[in-house]
This record gives sequence, structure tokens and C-alpha cells, in this order.
Amino acid sequence: MSYNLDGKVVIITGGTSGIGLETARLFSKESSKIMITGRNIEKMEKAKEVLEEDGGKIETISADLSNLEDMDKIIEKTEKNLGPIDILINNAGRSYPGDFFTTEPKLWEEILKNRITSPLYLTQKVLSKMIRRKTGTVIFMGAVIYKEPIPENVMAATAGGGILSATKALARLVASNGIRVNAILLGQFDTPMVRKGLKTYADLHSISEEEAANLRASQNPTGRFGDPKEAAQLALFLASESASYINGSLIPVDGGRSWSI
Ligand SMILES: NC(=O)c1ccc[n+]([C@@H]2O[C@H](COP(=O)([O-])OP(=O)(O)OC[C@H]3O[C@@H](n4cnc5c(N)ncnc54)[C@H](OP(=O)(O)O)[C@@H]3O)[C@@H](O)[C@H]2O)c1
Repeated sequence: MSYNLDGKVVIITGGTSGIGLETARLFSKESSKIMITGRNIEKMEKAKEVLEEDGGKIETISADLSNLEDMDKIIEKTEKNLGPIDILINNAGRSYPGDFFTTEPKLWEEILKNRITSPLYLTQKVLSKMIRRKTGTVIFMGAVIYKEPIPENVMAATAGGGILSATKALARLVASNGIRVNAILLGQFDTPMVRKGLKTYADLHSISEEEAANLRASQNPTGRFGDPKEAAQLALFLASESASYINGSLIPVDGGRSWSI
């Protein structure tokens, strides 16, 4: 099925790995023009090479969420090399599990900056350009724990809750300009980020990585992790005109893990 995203200009932050990379792959197959961002240059160049094989026009830029100036640079380079921005996917980030009582304020600041300030700053700048063109769509890659917070992840869930509120408020703010804002709430996906977490967990509990993976996977009703493609497919749909009446929605892709109505 084609979503008619041919030639659309897409920014995917964190498009060099895991869910972001898989999302970029699907947009490539649609012949979109894609800016992928990350911090690791080697990873970024490798991703560009792979994605170009799928037919997309790919640009890259090194951008760190901890630096607001980098967000400005993403927009400048995208507009200069690809054209006006049609789609923004705020995906870059990492998980922040940890004991609330031993979390230092310096880490709270990092979490708030990476989870809220930088994606919202980027979104603010992109939306003001979209408003002038009266077209565009923004997607936040969030997590089900933003909606159903867990005690192992107090700070990330707290910051993430802000993104859910922002999605709702922004969707109403810009809807009359023909722009949609939505969030995807991820369960557990098999990505480098999750694999890294499994290794830490395995080392901590003196079990193998495979045992840790099986244990975590069994916590999902499906008994398995999600494939990054299963999240990317929703991003592609939400970005397309097929989702023209979906706005301000917080949509879980979690194999049934979240239970609230
Ligand atoms: N996988 C899951 O189960 C899951 C669940 C809930 C939410 N999420 C969220 O979904 C998003 C994608 O996760 P993933 O599992 O695909 O992770 P991943 O494979 O580790 O990819 C993360 C991407 O974000 C970039 N990134 C990370 N920290 C960054 C920073 N401070 N500044 C700029 N770029 C940064 C990485 O680039 P570099 O490596 O170059 O820094 C990479 O391109 C993340 O926001 C994550 O928190 C994932």
C-alpha cells in the first residue's frame, strides 16, 4: 500500500538506529526526502548508505538533544538541502531507568531537557513554519509508561507525561491550520537501546542475556518484544493523508501491554 509520501520532506530525530531507522526505511521506500539525526557519525553514515539503497533521498546531521542550537541546525540544513518540512518525527532519546531516591538533580535536568525542552523547541520552530504553509504533521515517539507510569522509571515517566500533554494542547492549537500532532506510545521493542538494557539487567542478576530477554518478553501479553517495523508502520500511516482526521491522539503500539481504557 502506498501512502503518497513521495517527495515529502521528513525529519526523523534519532533516525540512525532502532525504531527511527526503521521509520526512515519505510519513508525511503515511499521515496520521501529524509533528514536523519543522531550523535554517532559512523552510525549515521552507515544508516544513510543502507537507506539510500531503499530509494530515499537521505541527508544527515549530527545533533545532540542537550544542545538547543543543534535543533536550529537541523531545520536550517533540512530546508536548504531538502526543502520546506512536511513531517517531523520526534524520536531521538534513550531510557532512564533508575532508583528515584538516588537520582541526582543533574540527571533530572538532562532528562527534562532531552525529553521535553529540546523536542518541544524543535517542534515550536517547525510548527511556526508549517503554519505559514498551512500543512504538516508532527509525531512524538513516546512510551506507554508515560500513560501508565511505573515506579522503576519515575523521572522518565514524569517528563514523558509532559509530552502527552503537549501533544493534546498543540493538536488543538494548530488544527485550524491544517496541521496534525499525534503521539505513538511504545511498549517494548527489540532495538539496540533495549538490548543494552537487557545486558545491564543480565549482568546485575547474574543471568544470561537470553534469559533476561525471555523474562522481559514474557511480561508482554504477546510473549515477545515488538519489531521496530511494527511501530514504524504506524508513524508512516499517521504522517499520511490516510490519517487526515487523526489529531491529538495518543496511540499505543504495545502488543496489549497497557490495560487502562
Ligand atoms: N525500544 C523501546 O522499547 C522503546 C520503548 C519506549 C520508548 N522508546 C523511545 O523510542 C525512541 C527510539 O528508541 P530506540 O529503542 O529505537 O533506541 P535506539 O535504537 O537506541 O535509537 C535511539 C536514537 O536516538 C539517538 N539519540 C539518543 N540520545 C540522543 C541524544 N541525547 N541526542 C540526540 N540523539 C540521541 C540515537 O543516536 P546516537 O546513538 O548517535 O546518539 C539513535 O539514533 C527513544 O526516544 C526511546 O526512548 C523506545
